[in-house]
Amino acid sequence: MVSHYYLASLLLLLLLNPHTTLGAQNLMLPYHNGALLKGTITVNLLWYGSFTPIQRSIILDFINSLSSTAGAPLPSVASWWKTTDKYRGGSTTIVLGKQILEQTYSLGNYLNGTQLVSLSSRFDHLNAINVVLTSSDVGVDGFCRSRCGTHGSITNGQKARIPYVWVGNSEAQCPGQCAWPFHQPAYGPQAPPLIAPNGDVGLDGMVINVATLLAGTVTNPFNEGFYQGPPTAPLEAVSACTGIFGSGAYPGYPGRVLVDKTTGASYNSYGAGNGRKYLLPAMWDPQTSACKTQV
Ligand SMILES: *[C@@H]1O[C@H](CO)[C@@H](O)[C@H](O)[C@H]1NC(C)=O
Repeated sequence: MVSHYYLASLLLLLLLNPHTTLGAQNLMLPYHNGALLKGTITVNLLWYGSFTPIQRSIILDFINSLSSTAGAPLPSVASWWKTTDKYRGGSTTIVLGKQILEQTYSLGNYLNGTQLVSLSSRFDHLNAINVVLTSSDVGVDGFCRSRCGTHGSITNGQKARIPYVWVGNSEAQCPGQCAWPFHQPAYGPQAPPLIAPNGDVGLDGMVINVATLLAGTVTNPFNEGFYQGPPTAPLEAVSACTGIFGSGAYPGYPGRVLVDKTTGASYNSYGAGNGRKYLLPAMWDPQTSACKTQV
């Protein structure tokens, strides 16, 4: 039922290897001849645990900015997402679908993979990506030890395969792994953390991982799209570029990004119509075979 797990942060491996070259040219992500997600795709969100309205709006405004350019100066969230169009051509328009607030911790405060999948199945929707977001007080199998989020797909009866994503708020559990560069890295070269653009280390870290996993999902939804390495631990559109946020990145240094003169926050993308700023990771560009940064 679960097609694959995926490591949203290989940062640890990169940081432990001082000879790693980030953003190397001619990085290849082979295409495995299967389906990609193109056209209009609905993103449904299940919020598991405790999220404030402001925390939810950080993610919602990000999702709403992926395919909308209303009022967003460049570089925008939409200009970042556009690189996914280059994967065999044809655009992927993201629209926000339903939301479920699961505030009663109905499955407890520790979830395994089976439970994540069952939460994602509460949405019944084709052409959708069902996203489960867990709050900072919820443990998840493998969270922090090996991953900051996952994506995969489930098959429901006669229906098509439906992709799902899970991302956890790492702030209380492992911000050095899953909310870098807004927190000191857990391992490797140390540099001062960047100020999170929405003032919330956990949520701004979640945006990085949601961005990583959504890009991985549309370009490799069923493990037969674009990826490098073993299908059980694929390097995908953004995970192949882990640790890069701006030009000149090297292990421990996220690269040159924009800095808000008032707050000192680091960012590289403007949201649409909401005035928010985001720091988005580099994405592999099939045209240049290199990791593309916003700035
Ligand atoms: C996940 O947890 C549920 C509830 O405790 C349990 O019934 C199920 O067997 C677990 N699944 C796995 C794969 O461990």
